[in-house]
Parts: sequence; structure tokens; C-alpha cells
Amino acid sequence: MYVADPIAAVTDPDPYPYYRHLAATRPFHHDAALGLWVAASADAGAEVLAHPDCRVRPVAQPVPPALAGTPAGALFGRLVRMTDGAPHAALKAVVMRAMAGIDLPDARTRARALAAHLPRAEADDAHEANRWMFTLPVLCVADLLGLPLERDEAGHVSTRVAGFVATFAAAMSPLARPADVEAGAVAAQWLTRWAGEHAAPGGLLAAMSQAAIDTAIDADIDPATLLANAIGLMIQACEATAGLVGNTLVRLGRLGEASGDLDELVADVACTDPPVQNTRRFLAADATLCGESLKAGDAVLVLLAAASHDPAGARPDRPWTFGTGRHGCPGDALARLLAATTVDSLLQRDVDPRRLLAGLRYRPSVNARIPLFTPSH
Ligand code: HEM
Repeated sequence: MYVADPIAAVTDPDPYPYYRHLAATRPFHHDAALGLWVAASADAGAEVLAHPDCRVRPVAQPVPPALAGTPAGALFGRLVRMTDGAPHAALKAVVMRAMAGIDLPDARTRARALAAHLPRAEADDAHEANRWMFTLPVLCVADLLGLPLERDEAGHVSTRVAGFVATFAAAMSPLARPADVEAGAVAAQWLTRWAGEHAAPGGLLAAMSQAAIDTAIDADIDPATLLANAIGLMIQACEATAGLVGNTLVRLGRLGEASGDLDELVADVACTDPPVQNTRRFLAADATLCGESLKAGDAVLVLLAAASHDPAGARPDRPWTFGTGRHGCPGDALARLLAATTVDSLLQRDVDPRRLLAGLRYRPSVNARIPLFTPSH
């Protein structure tokens, strides 16, 4: 018996037989109940993500109505992830250039150093795993950006910035309640002020400013947009990397013995139990996609997780969960490194993945598969 639909699949215990069935039998179809077109095969997904009229936001709604007019909406509307056309191309060039300058071995060393200064706060493995997966990757990106992380007298790193980033990320979800949106607005204000006041020279944020000067000859990228996109890197790192950490812990728990190379395991999990399961596109004009006639305003759900399980779409070097085409993730290598380091740090703190399985659920989400480990008491 298959799961109900592609949205329910995201948090289903085992959606992969369903995804494979969809990719094989209904590669591109209209789901009347969801009111969405669904691209399930690798070919269909690639075609949608490459199409110039397939935009990341509905044309008439650049910012979700719940966020519009708030500081959270102002931040959202500036993100490269949420923008199309010439502004997107200019910003993407800046982000790619700055990120290409990251020294990955050095990033791993810095991530390990940060992990060493995060104390084990909870006795329970589940609490600890939930906390770290939403904390360490974001703190590492903040550190790479050149933002100063607070420390207490014992030298322990404060996780405050990661809390604000997670709060903002939650406010962007279609499942956000009014209280989440309100908290997201406060978080956006805090992050904007903090990042604006504290960026140190030599970090990724400074590299983005330099890249904006070097690359954006015709496009004028204002400082507020640059700052928003520096904060955007922490936001992008938050939920998806937490999902990759959590899904890797689940895999380790099922394997029983912690064995093999963690980088390889993370790469495999990114393909076989991916954290980002789908992404949406909105038609800016009538268009023919995968042989079907779509109308302006139609929405398409691209099932990245189904493409990943489509035998015709095997791409071990660039897992589908990182997307493809113009909006493809520029942080994939860093994300895998941060996930592996976070898992490794949890193992070193004696978190036993086998003990996490008993309380395994998934956080409610329409696109991200992120375990929520329930404490044992
Ligand atoms: C496991 C972790 C991650 C996953 C699965 C992931 C996945 C994705 C996906 C699927 C997209 C494209 C969305 C679309 O086309 O609709 C994306 C975009 C993006 N990601 Fe990631 N990401 C991860 C971590 C990161 C990290 C660590 C960073 C940076 C520090 C990052 C930076 C970005 C940015 C800036 C974009 C927007 C690119 C654009 O719109 O052109 N991501 N990511």
C-alpha cells in the first residue's frame, strides 16, 4: 500500500517504493487533489528546473502573504533562492564566487573546533541529537561568514544565532502559524542587525561584498541585499543540513555498528534518504512541459527524492536533493562536510544512533525530511 500523495511522502517512514512507482508510471502528471502538477522522473524534474518560465515564486506573489510587510518578508524577498531573472543571476554569481573561495579542509577544521566548544548539555541522546543538528552546521556557516560567536566564561559557544536562524526558517514554511511568523519577524530583525554590525574582514561576507564589486558590472547589488544573502546562507544551511545529519543518524542506527567512512555514508544518504524531497515551481507564462500544456500560474512539484530513486537519474556526484539548473544549491559540498562533522561529533559525545530509532518521527514539513528524535523518558 503506497503513501497517500507526494506531500505525505516527505514524512512517511518509507516513501521510496511509492516514489519509484510514480517515476516509472506517472513521470509527469496532474494531481487534482493537491492542485499541482507533479514531476516524478529524473527527466521530467530536469526539464522543469531548466525551463525559463518555471519560477521559484508565483509572479504576483514574490513574498508569501503571511510574511509580506514584515521584517521577515523583507529578508525573504531579497534571498537569491526566492528571486528569478537578472537579479537572481547577478546574486547567484556573487554567491558562487564567494563560496568557491571556501577552503573545505579548513572549514572542517573550524567545524571540529566549534564542536569541541559545544558542551553536551542533555543526558538524553535524542535531545542532544535534535539540538546539535540544528545548531552546529549553522554556527559553522556563521563562523565562515566572519561573524563572531559569543562564548561564556568556560569558553562554550553560544547557540543563540542558530536559534534565531531556525526560528526564521520555520516562519518561511507554509505550515507556519501566526505565532511562528511573529517570531520569524523578530528573528529577521535580530539577524539583520547582528550580521550588519559584526561582520569581520576576511570572512565569507566580506568575500561576497568583494565579489559584488568584481562581478556585478551592470547589476547594482545594494548592501541590504548582500547582507540578506549572507544571512540566507545560514538559513539555507539550517533545516536541510539538519535533515542530512538526522537521516544519516537513522541510517547508522539501522546499520547497527558504526562502520565505514562517514563522508561516503553522508553522500549515500543524500541520494537514498534525502533531506530535501521536493521543490516547487510556478509558471510565469503558458508553456508546454513534458508534452503537457500548462497555464500561467500553474504550480509544479518537482520530486527530487523520486528523481534520486529513478534508475535513469543516478547522479552520485551531485545528489538530486541539492537541486539542479539555475537555482541548484551552491553549498552542496559544504553541506555534506558539515553533516559528516556533526554526526562524527555526536558519535564522539557517545550518542548511540541505535537508541534514537525507538523515538523516530519526522517533523511536519511539506518538503524537508528531518527526523525528530523523541526522548526516551
Ligand atoms: C543538506 C543540506 C542542503 C540541501 C539538501 C540543500 C538543497 C538545496 C536545494 C534543493 C536548493 C534549490 C532549491 C530549488 O531549486 O528550488 C538549494 C538552494 C540553495 N542552497 Fe542549499 N542545500 C543544503 C545546504 C546548503 C548550505 C550549507 C548552503 C550554504 C552555506 C546552501 C546554500 C544554498 C543557496 C544560497 C541556495 C539558493 C541558490 C539559488 O536559488 O540559486 N545550501 N539548496
